[in-house]
Amino acid sequence: MSAEVKSPNPTTEAEPTASSATVPMWLIALMLLLLLGGAVYFDARGGWFDARVYRPFAALPEQFQPPPPDGPDLRPGRRIYDAACAACHMVNGVGNPAVNAPPIAGSDWVLADGPNRLIRIVLDGLTGPIEVSGKQYGGGVMTPFKGTFTDEEIAQVLTYIRRNPDWKHDASEVTAEQVAKIREQTKDRAINWTPAELLTIPAKD
Ligand code: HEC
Repeated sequence: MSAEVKSPNPTTEAEPTASSATVPMWLIALMLLLLLGGAVYFDARGGWFDARVYRPFAALPEQFQPPPPDGPDLRPGRRIYDAACAACHMVNGVGNPAVNAPPIAGSDWVLADGPNRLIRIVLDGLTGPIEVSGKQYGGGVMTPFKGTFTDEEIAQVLTYIRRNPDWKHDASEVTAEQVAKIREQTKDRAINWTPAELLTIPAKD
């Protein structure tokens, strides 16, 4: 019987050794998954070059202006006009003789009592001799925008051209409901309007 405490024998205890072992596959797979997850997350949330990220810094003065206190917000309509109409009618609305586009600024067609003819012009386009504010134009063709813009967008662009303070326009607002009604009434039309034809339609209901 021995009360002797066995001390670990340093000679039989193995020395720690360094050896090579392969990295487990699951760890590599996990790392790749994390990398992929991070990339997907960044892609979804990073914003890239989205206008919503950069627009506030894009030096668009309108962005810094609050909507006019009275009347509708003209900013969405201005964006549509600048993108879709200004190519022919010019940003400042003076028209362009090179494509026989008459002016929008000061136009009696634009400032009519109601939007009945304007809505038709934007939906199905226009061609044929036209008198705008006492001057003759003709020979040009305005393309239809039926398939391009929603009722809301057509209402916005027409509201903008009818109320643009830069042109001293102060005609009534155009609503999406007015556009929807005329779109329905003219849904079978497949050719441009002519000014002569439009003049037979009352400008206002
Ligand atoms: C491809 C060129 C072109 C584009 C783009 C264009 N128009 Fe026109 N627009 C014309 C021409 C040309 C006429 C005159 C047609 C004629 O001679 O009968 C005209 C006539 C008009 C008229 C009636 C005359 C006047 O000057 O008041 C209005 C209103 C009008 N366009 C609004 C618009 C709006 C709003 C847009 C954008 C949604 C637009 N146009 C886009 C070429 C264009």
